[in-house]
Amino acid sequence: MSYPIVRMRRLRQSAVLRRMVRETSLSADDLIMPLFVRPGQGIKKAIASMPGNFQFSVDTLVEEARSLVDAGVPAVILFGIPEAKDAHGSGAYAEDAIVCRAVEHLKRACPDLCVITDVCLCEYTDHGHCGVIGHGHAGKPDVDNDATLPLLAREAVAHARAGADMVAPSDMMDGRVGAIRDGLDEAGFPDIPIMAYSAKYASAFYGPFRDAAESPPQFGDRTTYQMDPPNAREALREIALDIDEGADIVMVKPALPYLDIIRMAADNFEVPLAAYHVSGEFSMVKAAAANGWLEEKRAALEILTAIRRAGAKLILTYWAKDAALWLRG
Ligand code: PBG
Repeated sequence: MSYPIVRMRRLRQSAVLRRMVRETSLSADDLIMPLFVRPGQGIKKAIASMPGNFQFSVDTLVEEARSLVDAGVPAVILFGIPEAKDAHGSGAYAEDAIVCRAVEHLKRACPDLCVITDVCLCEYTDHGHCGVIGHGHAGKPDVDNDATLPLLAREAVAHARAGADMVAPSDMMDGRVGAIRDGLDEAGFPDIPIMAYSAKYASAFYGPFRDAAESPPQFGDRTTYQMDPPNAREALREIALDIDEGADIVMVKPALPYLDIIRMAADNFEVPLAAYHVSGEFSMVKAAAANGWLEEKRAALEILTAIRRAGAKLILTYWAKDAALWLRG
């Protein structure tokens, strides 16, 4: 025979063989659940654009965290919706900040749960930007990078004081990882790790989250601080800078449209790599599933496995609880 048939199908014949030669694994240990917390009592308000997700008050948040622990999810990342917003986002770093209250209660109820806090100002500013506003290009209002840094450091220290296990800056200001590291060290928290949103793109896929966190920018957009989607090499610079400044874990965000960036990051750096499968990526599968166009569970596990295959160890995903339960079988 001039073309001998290579029997690739030999190792696909049975479930046990497929299991044995599988190159990538997905475990509940890889998953981090994003949760939204707001003031009040007994609140569990559905987020219309993100089916199955809620804005919780601290008490209902604790119940949700208990069920995540039971499902085997090791970590949550908290986003706060404050009572009131102002130009400087003071609800982010006040003593009684909503996220700080949530952290205190979560750590008391679930001491072994890793409680990560998102560090950013966009949920807390009345203009919805991730920092304070100054003058940018051609005198147009824009986020003032250097004036924002001390506020982010204050926010991170407030979270650490409340008992957070890790802080995760998502603002994309230059130098913020160094400013937060210095702030934490000076405040007596040298052991609190930083998970940096290092390669965070100005993406259309954050739409549902901005509903959930009530944080859309009231003017302009985030293109002067978040990365331009066509750029890949620039992501390597962003990640290298964050590692130099003290990031312990680096992140690529979003995930599915940026699997190439995840792969590049995994090949180039040794620190643990996270990827954020964001709200829009999640909600589009939910919408398709609701229409009967996709099977949610299969699609979700395929996507999460693809993110692991691309090289991410940790995945921030709104499927964290569902996936942990699915993986348990
Ligand atoms: C805050 C922040 C955003 C997300 C995480 N942190 C929104 C944004 O940058 O506009 C998006 C998460 C998601 O879409 O699931 N800066």
